[in-house]
Amino acid sequence: MCGIVGYLGKKNTKEILLNGLKELEYRGYDSAGIAVLENGNFSNFKAVGKLVNLEEKTKNYSTDGFSAGIGHTRWATHGKPTELNAHPHVGQSSYVVHNGIIENYAKLKKELINDGIKFLSQTDTEVIVHQFEKNLNSASNTFEAFSKTISELDGAYAILLVTKSQPDTIFFAKHGSPMLVGTNNESEQYFASSDTPLIGHCNEVNYFEDGDYGYVSSNNITIFDKDKNKKEPIFSKLSQNKLSAQKDGFRFFMEKEIYEQSDVISDTLMGRLDDDEIIFNELDKKIFDDINEIKLCACGTSYHSAMSASYLFERYSKIRTSLEIASEFRYRNPIMSKDTLFVVISQSGETADTLETLKMAKQAGLKTLVICNVDNSSMVRLADYCILTRAGIEKGVASTKAFATQVTIFWMLSLYIAKLKNSLSVDEISKQISLLREIPTHVKVTDDMHERIKRLSKRYLHGHGFFFIGRDIFYPLALEGALKLKEISYLHAEGYPSGEMKHGPIALADPELFTIALLPQNLLYEKSKNNVEELSARDSTICAISSKEFDKADDFIQISECKDYMLEFFEMMIVVQLLSLEISARLGNDVDMPRNLAKSVTVE
Ligand code: F6R
Repeated sequence: MCGIVGYLGKKNTKEILLNGLKELEYRGYDSAGIAVLENGNFSNFKAVGKLVNLEEKTKNYSTDGFSAGIGHTRWATHGKPTELNAHPHVGQSSYVVHNGIIENYAKLKKELINDGIKFLSQTDTEVIVHQFEKNLNSASNTFEAFSKTISELDGAYAILLVTKSQPDTIFFAKHGSPMLVGTNNESEQYFASSDTPLIGHCNEVNYFEDGDYGYVSSNNITIFDKDKNKKEPIFSKLSQNKLSAQKDGFRFFMEKEIYEQSDVISDTLMGRLDDDEIIFNELDKKIFDDINEIKLCACGTSYHSAMSASYLFERYSKIRTSLEIASEFRYRNPIMSKDTLFVVISQSGETADTLETLKMAKQAGLKTLVICNVDNSSMVRLADYCILTRAGIEKGVASTKAFATQVTIFWMLSLYIAKLKNSLSVDEISKQISLLREIPTHVKVTDDMHERIKRLSKRYLHGHGFFFIGRDIFYPLALEGALKLKEISYLHAEGYPSGEMKHGPIALADPELFTIALLPQNLLYEKSKNNVEELSARDSTICAISSKEFDKADDFIQISECKDYMLEFFEMMIVVQLLSLEISARLGNDVDMPRNLAKSVTVE
């Protein structure tokens, strides 16, 4: 989803903006641009597609003194990904970048057109700069015009604006979309949508709250809150430990992230496992007092991990668990009772739909918990409690290690609650904990396994569709396998409960229907096998994933003999991730940045 950067200072503004945008690439985008105000003159560059195109356009441009610059990566919402629609958007003497959606833009645009303003783009964003310049005509100063403009906008936004009428300043506003400002000892000011572009440049950062707006000059940060009261920035230290975001010799970030899962899961487990209990220092055991239900709410891959959790919570913690897709939950006037613990799951912590449900739960007075990968993200700051997944920065748009660490957390959390509620014996909890310790070994990618999947993938590049099927907790894994495949291969894939195929989808069975069958030895093996046999009898092409050879399958990917179904779950997770990756790579797709997708979905 769109990314924003801003810089005020004497260094090479162009490089700082472009490098900042590179750090935000993972959010997904289809065009990019920058605008820099130096010595009273603007320079503006835009390009469709990847940042290299923008780099090419700016290669003969540089700054050599104090300047104010803003930059943007755009993920199209209103209007196609074209240069005209790319940000920054221009007025007579100002430029603006924006992440989010201006809901009342059509009304404002109509009024501005009636006033004689000519619009260059189809975007909602362009109204901001024209509205600001309209207000500037009657305002006593630039900030008054800016504040008036912000008060006239409905919707979600993070906005940066630079104008000739106050050339040493960047104006900002934040409501519903993430943004922070960072500073250092050299009187430089940096803005960004997340902290990664600021690492190495700033020592302290202020995360804006919803409703914050104001302006920044080289020695001053002025912030007003949603009630128009002036407030001081709240600075926190920014880690200088820049995580290596390079591919480390892998072809794709997604591949690197699949291989990293063993290490990151070790980090997820670190310090949280005792012999017979799970330690979550970040939780207060009291949150489970008077709780009769857990409600899990998320989108996409995070929703699939939530679904896995629903099996574990009911099986081990013996607590009623319900599951919600965030975009559905928001608008269906759900019943929220105070004996429910509301849990949101999000890699980014910024997904607009999920964030909104968290706000709803808080408003209804529910206890809230977020399982998240990004510290200081909006959800982490809002929820009562937070468990960080510790997966590290995930750059591939298709989520892999975030999912793996979320499921690991949920397995731990189910045991944590089981201990509190005495729903499992001490021996059983100890046994489960020793299984948890084995996950990192089971998710190591072996050369043999990867080679086999690479070879097999060439047989799965066509067909009229894929069904990933599984039972119990392997059903959410089937959903996740299908989501991975469709995201990066653009082939149609569905996840289905194995036992449900005969109630309709089996009508599709023929040799061109590819069934990826998850057949764990330790959970409902015979039942799952029967379901696959039904498909095999109808000539569907079957690829079985199991530790035991299955003679009715056309292809077979062998996982190791595991002591427990959860370890089979993690091994099969690696298989479905690699299978999607290899199919996508063979099809020549952009594995890390698939078309139409964004890493952080900050619009609803
Ligand atoms: C799939 C994927 C998306 C995200 C979804 C929620 O590979 O990445 O489906 O899982 O957009 O994002 P988060 O977890 O950041 O809330």
